[in-house]
Amino acid sequence: MTGSHVSSVHGSEKPPGRKRWRGIFVTGTDTGVGKTVITAAIAAALRSEGQNVGVWKPVQSGALLGEGITDAERLLRGTGIGERPEQVAPFTFAAPLAPALAAKQAGVDLTMAGLLAAGEPLAERYDALLIEGAGGAAVPLTSDALVADFIAELGVPALIVARCGLGTVNHTLLTAALLRQRGIPVAGVVMNEVDHATSRNDPSTAANAELIERYGGLCVLGQFPWISGEATMERLVRAVKQHMDISPVRQILENVINS
Ligand SMILES: Nc1ncnc2c1ncn2[C@@H]1O[C@H](COP(=O)(O)OP(=O)(O)O)[C@@H](O)[C@H]1O
Ligand SMILES: [Mg+2]
Repeated sequence: MTGSHVSSVHGSEKPPGRKRWRGIFVTGTDTGVGKTVITAAIAAALRSEGQNVGVWKPVQSGALLGEGITDAERLLRGTGIGERPEQVAPFTFAAPLAPALAAKQAGVDLTMAGLLAAGEPLAERYDALLIEGAGGAAVPLTSDALVADFIAELGVPALIVARCGLGTVNHTLLTAALLRQRGIPVAGVVMNEVDHATSRNDPSTAANAELIERYGGLCVLGQFPWISGEATMERLVRAVKQHMDISPVRQILENVINS
Protein backbone atom coordinates (compact mmCIF):
# COMPACT_ATOMS: atom_id res chain seq x y z
CA MET A 1 0.00 0.00 0.00
CA THR A 2 1.49 3.34 -0.95
CA GLY A 3 1.72 6.32 1.36
CA SER A 4 -0.63 8.41 -0.73
CA HIS A 5 -3.23 5.64 -0.63
CA VAL A 6 -2.88 5.40 3.15
CA SER A 7 -3.44 9.15 3.43
CA SER A 8 -6.43 9.14 1.12
CA VAL A 9 -8.06 6.33 3.09
CA HIS A 10 -7.90 8.45 6.22
CA GLY A 11 -8.80 11.60 4.38
CA SER A 12 -12.12 10.05 3.46
CA GLU A 13 -12.75 8.95 7.05
CA LYS A 14 -12.33 12.38 8.63
CA PRO A 15 -15.42 13.26 10.65
CA PRO A 16 -16.79 16.66 9.64
CA GLY A 17 -16.00 19.56 11.97
CA ARG A 18 -13.53 17.62 14.10
CA LYS A 19 -11.73 19.47 16.85
CA ARG A 20 -8.39 21.09 16.28
CA TRP A 21 -5.51 19.56 18.23
CA ARG A 22 -3.20 21.92 20.07
CA GLY A 23 0.30 20.63 20.57
CA ILE A 24 3.50 19.31 19.11
CA PHE A 25 4.28 15.72 18.19
CA VAL A 26 7.68 14.46 19.30
CA THR A 27 8.96 11.88 16.87
CA GLY A 28 12.46 10.53 16.47
CA THR A 29 14.87 9.09 13.98
CA ASP A 30 14.52 5.71 15.69
CA THR A 31 13.33 3.99 18.80
CA GLY A 32 15.58 4.59 21.81
CA VAL A 33 16.80 8.01 20.64
CA GLY A 34 15.39 9.84 23.66
CA LYS A 35 11.85 10.84 22.70
CA THR A 36 10.55 10.19 26.22
CA VAL A 37 13.39 12.11 27.87
CA ILE A 38 13.04 15.09 25.52
CA THR A 39 9.22 15.13 25.65
CA ALA A 40 9.36 15.19 29.45
CA ALA A 41 12.14 17.79 29.48
CA ILE A 42 10.40 20.26 27.16
CA ALA A 43 7.02 19.78 28.86
CA ALA A 44 8.66 20.29 32.26
CA ALA A 45 10.45 23.43 31.05
CA LEU A 46 7.22 24.92 29.66
CA ARG A 47 5.31 24.01 32.81
CA SER A 48 8.03 25.65 34.92
CA GLU A 49 7.20 28.85 32.99
CA GLY A 50 3.55 28.49 34.01
CA GLN A 51 2.18 26.92 30.82
CA ASN A 52 -0.57 24.33 31.19
CA VAL A 53 1.09 21.73 28.96
CA GLY A 54 0.22 18.04 29.20
CA VAL A 55 1.80 14.86 27.82
CA TRP A 56 0.24 12.10 25.76
CA LYS A 57 1.67 8.78 24.63
CA PRO A 58 -1.06 7.56 22.24
CA VAL A 59 0.39 4.05 21.88
CA GLN A 60 2.99 2.33 23.98
CA SER A 61 4.33 -1.11 23.09
CA GLY A 62 6.96 -3.27 24.73
CA ALA A 63 5.65 -3.19 28.29
CA LEU A 64 2.28 -3.01 29.98
CA LEU A 65 1.62 -0.27 32.51
CA GLY A 66 2.76 -1.39 35.93
CA GLU A 67 5.51 -3.60 34.44
CA GLY A 68 8.38 -1.49 35.73
CA ILE A 69 8.77 2.13 34.71
CA THR A 70 7.29 2.54 31.24
CA ASP A 71 7.20 5.69 29.09
CA ALA A 72 3.96 6.86 30.69
CA GLU A 73 5.43 6.75 34.19
CA ARG A 74 8.63 8.42 33.00
CA LEU A 75 6.68 11.22 31.34
CA LEU A 76 4.73 11.79 34.55
CA ARG A 77 7.76 11.67 36.82
CA GLY A 78 9.79 13.94 34.56
CA THR A 79 7.09 16.58 34.42
CA GLY A 80 5.45 16.25 37.83
CA ILE A 81 2.07 15.94 36.10
CA GLY A 82 -0.53 14.32 38.34
CA GLU A 83 -2.31 12.01 35.89
CA ARG A 84 -2.64 8.25 36.10
CA PRO A 85 -0.36 6.40 33.62
CA GLU A 86 -3.36 4.88 31.81
CA GLN A 87 -4.72 8.38 31.15
CA VAL A 88 -1.46 9.41 29.50
CA ALA A 89 -0.98 6.11 27.64
CA PRO A 90 -4.47 4.80 26.79
CA PHE A 91 -3.22 1.99 24.52
CA THR A 92 -0.45 -0.15 25.94
CA PHE A 93 0.73 -3.48 24.54
CA ALA A 94 3.16 -6.01 25.93
CA ALA A 95 4.81 -7.11 22.70
CA PRO A 96 8.01 -5.26 21.75
CA LEU A 97 6.68 -4.76 18.22
CA ALA A 98 5.46 -1.87 16.08
CA PRO A 99 2.06 -0.76 17.47
CA ALA A 100 0.14 -2.19 14.49
CA LEU A 101 1.53 -5.67 15.17
CA ALA A 102 1.54 -5.43 18.96
CA ALA A 103 -2.15 -4.44 18.92
CA LYS A 104 -3.03 -7.23 16.53
CA GLN A 105 -1.27 -9.74 18.76
CA ALA A 106 -3.28 -8.47 21.73
CA GLY A 107 -6.53 -8.76 19.74
CA VAL A 108 -7.10 -5.00 19.74
CA ASP A 109 -8.39 -3.19 16.68
CA LEU A 110 -6.30 -0.03 16.74
CA THR A 111 -7.95 2.63 14.58
CA MET A 112 -7.24 6.26 13.90
CA ALA A 113 -10.64 7.23 15.30
CA GLY A 114 -10.02 5.19 18.47
CA LEU A 115 -6.59 6.75 19.00
CA LEU A 116 -7.97 10.26 18.60
CA ALA A 117 -10.94 9.62 20.89
CA ALA A 118 -8.62 8.33 23.64
CA GLY A 119 -6.63 11.57 23.56
CA GLU A 120 -9.61 13.91 23.82
CA PRO A 121 -9.89 13.97 27.63
CA LEU A 122 -6.24 15.07 27.82
CA ALA A 123 -6.74 17.71 25.13
CA GLU A 124 -9.59 19.12 27.19
CA ARG A 125 -7.57 19.31 30.41
CA TYR A 126 -4.51 21.09 28.99
CA ASP A 127 -3.91 24.14 26.84
CA ALA A 128 -1.54 22.09 24.67
CA LEU A 129 -0.06 18.60 24.56
CA LEU A 130 3.39 17.26 23.87
CA ILE A 131 2.64 13.98 22.14
CA GLU A 132 5.27 11.26 22.14
CA GLY A 133 5.23 8.93 19.15
CA ALA A 134 6.14 5.28 18.99
CA GLY A 135 9.44 4.51 17.28
CA GLY A 136 9.94 6.79 14.29
CA ALA A 137 7.70 8.50 11.74
CA ALA A 138 7.55 5.52 9.35
CA VAL A 139 6.48 3.02 12.00
CA PRO A 140 3.22 1.15 11.26
CA LEU A 141 0.65 2.41 13.75
CA THR A 142 -2.65 0.91 12.63
CA SER A 143 -3.43 -1.67 9.95
CA ASP A 144 -3.27 1.03 7.29
CA ALA A 145 -1.49 4.06 8.74
CA LEU A 146 2.00 5.05 9.75
CA VAL A 147 2.88 7.30 12.68
CA ALA A 148 3.32 10.10 10.11
CA ASP A 149 -0.30 9.66 8.98
CA PHE A 150 -1.43 10.03 12.58
CA ILE A 151 0.57 13.25 12.99
CA ALA A 152 -1.00 14.57 9.79
CA GLU A 153 -4.45 13.64 11.13
CA LEU A 154 -3.77 15.52 14.37
CA GLY A 155 -2.67 18.51 12.31
CA VAL A 156 0.17 19.43 14.66
CA PRO A 157 3.81 20.23 13.86
CA ALA A 158 6.50 17.68 14.65
CA LEU A 159 9.76 17.86 16.55
CA ILE A 160 12.46 15.34 15.62
CA VAL A 161 14.72 13.82 18.28
CA ALA A 162 17.99 12.64 16.75
CA ARG A 163 21.20 11.06 17.93
CA CYS A 164 24.38 13.13 17.85
CA GLY A 165 26.81 10.75 16.14
CA LEU A 166 27.58 9.38 12.70
CA GLY A 167 24.46 8.45 10.69
CA THR A 168 22.20 11.04 12.24
CA VAL A 169 22.20 13.43 9.27
CA ASN A 170 20.83 10.73 6.98
CA HIS A 171 18.21 9.57 9.49
CA THR A 172 17.11 13.11 10.34
CA LEU A 173 16.79 14.30 6.75
CA LEU A 174 14.84 11.16 5.80
CA THR A 175 12.50 11.68 8.74
CA ALA A 176 11.96 15.33 7.84
CA ALA A 177 11.32 14.39 4.20
CA LEU A 178 8.60 11.90 5.17
CA LEU A 179 6.94 14.39 7.52
CA ARG A 180 6.97 17.11 4.88
CA GLN A 181 5.59 14.70 2.29
CA ARG A 182 2.59 14.32 4.60
CA GLY A 183 2.31 18.12 4.91
CA ILE A 184 3.55 18.17 8.52
CA PRO A 185 5.59 21.26 9.48
CA VAL A 186 8.83 20.39 11.27
CA ALA A 187 9.25 22.63 14.31
CA GLY A 188 12.87 21.65 14.84
CA VAL A 189 15.39 18.99 15.71
CA VAL A 190 16.83 18.13 19.11
CA MET A 191 20.22 16.44 19.03
CA ASN A 192 20.29 14.13 22.03
CA GLU A 193 23.50 12.80 23.56
CA VAL A 194 21.94 9.36 23.89
CA ASP A 195 25.01 7.84 22.22
CA HIS A 196 27.26 9.88 24.51
CA ALA A 197 29.79 7.10 25.05
CA THR A 198 30.71 7.10 21.37
CA SER A 199 29.56 10.52 20.12
CA ARG A 200 32.06 12.42 22.30
CA ASN A 201 34.92 10.94 20.28
CA ASP A 202 32.97 10.86 17.04
CA PRO A 203 34.48 13.41 14.61
CA SER A 204 31.08 13.82 12.91
CA THR A 205 29.29 15.11 16.03
CA ALA A 206 30.58 18.68 15.89
CA ALA A 207 29.35 19.23 12.33
CA ASN A 208 26.11 17.21 12.33
CA ALA A 209 23.80 19.95 13.63
CA GLU A 210 25.04 22.39 11.02
CA LEU A 211 24.66 19.83 8.22
CA ILE A 212 21.09 19.07 9.34
CA GLU A 213 20.26 22.79 9.29
CA ARG A 214 21.92 23.43 5.94
CA TYR A 215 20.79 20.39 3.96
CA GLY A 216 17.42 19.96 5.66
CA GLY A 217 16.41 23.59 6.03
CA LEU A 218 15.73 22.65 9.64
CA CYS A 219 16.26 24.42 12.93
CA VAL A 220 18.33 22.55 15.53
CA LEU A 221 17.09 23.62 18.95
CA GLY A 222 20.19 22.40 20.74
CA GLN A 223 22.22 19.45 21.91
CA PHE A 224 20.58 17.88 24.93
CA PRO A 225 23.22 16.53 27.34
CA TRP A 226 23.47 13.02 28.73
CA ILE A 227 22.03 13.12 32.23
CA SER A 228 23.75 10.71 34.56
CA GLY A 229 21.64 9.46 37.43
CA GLU A 230 17.89 9.85 37.63
CA ALA A 231 16.32 12.22 35.09
CA THR A 232 14.49 14.30 37.70
CA MET A 233 12.27 17.20 36.71
CA GLU A 234 14.83 19.68 38.05
CA ARG A 235 17.67 18.15 36.01
CA LEU A 236 15.57 18.03 32.85
CA VAL A 237 14.47 21.66 33.18
CA ARG A 238 18.04 22.79 33.89
CA ALA A 239 19.32 20.90 30.83
CA VAL A 240 16.70 22.54 28.60
CA LYS A 241 17.50 26.00 29.95
CA GLN A 242 21.26 25.55 29.55
CA HIS A 243 21.46 23.68 26.25
CA MET A 244 18.39 24.39 24.19
CA ASP A 245 16.49 27.25 22.65
CA ILE A 246 12.87 26.17 22.84
CA SER A 247 11.49 29.50 21.62
CA PRO A 248 10.18 27.96 18.33
CA VAL A 249 8.20 25.44 20.40
CA ARG A 250 6.95 28.17 22.74
CA GLN A 251 5.91 30.28 19.75
CA ILE A 252 3.99 27.46 18.06
CA LEU A 253 2.12 26.62 21.24
CA GLU A 254 1.35 30.26 22.01
CA ASN A 255 -0.05 30.69 18.50
CA VAL A 256 -2.36 27.66 18.71
CA ILE A 257 -3.45 28.40 22.28
CA ASN A 258 -4.34 31.98 21.41
CA SER A 259 -5.98 31.26 18.06
N1 LIG B 1 19.95 12.76 27.52
C1 LIG B 1 19.84 11.61 28.16
N2 LIG B 1 20.42 11.46 29.39
C2 LIG B 1 20.32 10.28 30.05
N3 LIG B 1 19.69 9.20 29.60
C3 LIG B 1 19.09 9.29 28.39
C4 LIG B 1 19.13 10.50 27.63
N4 LIG B 1 18.47 10.29 26.48
C5 LIG B 1 18.01 9.03 26.53
N5 LIG B 1 18.40 8.42 27.67
C6 LIG B 1 18.13 7.02 28.05
O1 LIG B 1 18.23 6.24 26.87
C7 LIG B 1 17.15 5.31 26.80
C8 LIG B 1 16.30 5.61 25.57
O2 LIG B 1 15.70 6.89 25.74
P1 LIG B 1 14.13 7.09 25.57
O3 LIG B 1 13.80 8.47 25.96
O4 LIG B 1 13.39 5.99 26.29
O5 LIG B 1 14.00 6.88 24.01
P2 LIG B 1 12.69 6.70 23.10
O6 LIG B 1 11.56 7.31 23.86
O7 LIG B 1 13.01 7.43 21.83
O8 LIG B 1 12.52 5.23 22.88
C9 LIG B 1 16.40 5.42 28.11
O9 LIG B 1 16.93 4.50 29.03
C10 LIG B 1 16.70 6.85 28.56
O10 LIG B 1 16.63 7.02 29.95
MG1 LIG C 1 9.76 6.53 24.54
